[in-house]
Amino acid sequence: MKARIKELLGTEPSEQHIVIEGWVRTCRNSGNLCFIELSDGSCLSGIQVIAESALKNYADEIRHISTGTAVKATGTLVESPAKGQVVEVQAESIEILGSADPSNYPLQKKRHSFEFLRSISHLRPRTNALGAVARIRSELNFAIHRFFREQGFFQVHTPIITTSDCEGAGEMFTVTALSDKELGKEFGKKNPFAQDFFGRKAGLTVSGQLQAEIYALSHGRVYTFGPTFRAENSNTSRHLAEFWMLEPEMAFCDLAGDMDVAEALIQNLINTVLENCADDLDLFNQFISKGLIEKLETVCRQAFTRMTYSQAIQELEGAKQQFEYPVAWGSDLQAEHERFLCEEIAGRPVIVTDYPKTIKPFYMRQNEDGKTVAAMDILVPGIGELVGGSQREERLELLTARMQEAKLDLEEYSWYLDLRRYGSVPHAGFGLGFERLVQFVTGMSNIRDVIPFPRTPSNAPC
Ligand code: 4AD
Ligand code: MG
Repeated sequence: MKARIKELLGTEPSEQHIVIEGWVRTCRNSGNLCFIELSDGSCLSGIQVIAESALKNYADEIRHISTGTAVKATGTLVESPAKGQVVEVQAESIEILGSADPSNYPLQKKRHSFEFLRSISHLRPRTNALGAVARIRSELNFAIHRFFREQGFFQVHTPIITTSDCEGAGEMFTVTALSDKELGKEFGKKNPFAQDFFGRKAGLTVSGQLQAEIYALSHGRVYTFGPTFRAENSNTSRHLAEFWMLEPEMAFCDLAGDMDVAEALIQNLINTVLENCADDLDLFNQFISKGLIEKLETVCRQAFTRMTYSQAIQELEGAKQQFEYPVAWGSDLQAEHERFLCEEIAGRPVIVTDYPKTIKPFYMRQNEDGKTVAAMDILVPGIGELVGGSQREERLELLTARMQEAKLDLEEYSWYLDLRRYGSVPHAGFGLGFERLVQFVTGMSNIRDVIPFPRTPSNAPC
């Protein structure tokens, strides 16, 4: 039987014959025995394989096995006399599949800094922490689909290449099929992309929301989950140029309903990780963020605090703490303000609602006061904004007026306006930054360490 280490560690040992394949974490010689700790990525723990000197390649190969070597071990699963492990493998044969030269294999037994590991993104998933991040990320991904399926949502695949700048912030990466030379010739013309592949300027999506709205207005409850891109020159521990965003969109839903879904989702996802990834979480709890598990359990137990933007500004104005950025009604909340609200004021996640319309995109629904919109951001301790969402403006005249204010070309967005002409209904949705969620769940401080291949300004090595 070819087995994965995760299964073997939960199997009753009865000298059953097994085959395992993996990479060597450590190999220790002791007289006539070699103790090899083998990992196959299926879980945090490795399994101990014991090789006796009677094995035919013992002297030539086994004794010289080094960290990083790929091996195939055949043997029997037996009870382990050693502390800290229930089972071990008594090897009958060990085949070296791929060696790793100890004089230059970068992952030696010592602890490496995350910064160094970023420079070897092809090897870092073999380390304990990055390996655990990858498993938790995968678990969260699966849990998202399960949550929405159980709630009657349909997944919609929204386009990656688009001509609509959803957030209107001018942060779209341009997509072109023109050569450098052709681009040079078109440069400075009124529409330099007229000769391009799509006959107009296209880019990588900053959000699938506008297209998700189309399907919400035919299927009721939908979500899109995929990579999004922002040419935003932010070099921080919570910004990426390519990140994954989860965006549910619901017809017949207002802001209150939107917040309820987001809160239930976050609690459900965290619970799933607490239940299914105990060993990996324990690693983060011990070495990365002390008290993490308790923090996550509390987030699942307590309702999130809800306050309006105006109340949040009052709290910030009354704070004794000095902020780097000034606080004033009308300006956007900075990460330091967001963190203060959830860490110092509420001690839990906070949902801030009803932001000034001047700092929010065109599609958000205007409130009666004419000054604010039915927006909501969910702020979490240690990170700040995890979710941004709103009720959408479903009234044609008001939406048209806001789009004109935002200097959008109404012709280009005629399809979006049609949704308000034909069977318009109240609807709402939000976007959850997937990497920020992985950061929150693992306690990893830099967003570059929770995505396999981070893209940030001046950095896209492979
Ligand atoms: O607040 P944002 O910009 O909202 C939207 O894009 C809406 N269209 C979503 C919607 O209503 N369907 O982004 C949503 C979330 C943020 O709260 C943040 O968690 C994450 O996406 N995010 C980023 N994550 C990593 N790097 C970046 N540069 C991010 N920008 C936003
Ligand atoms: Mg936002």
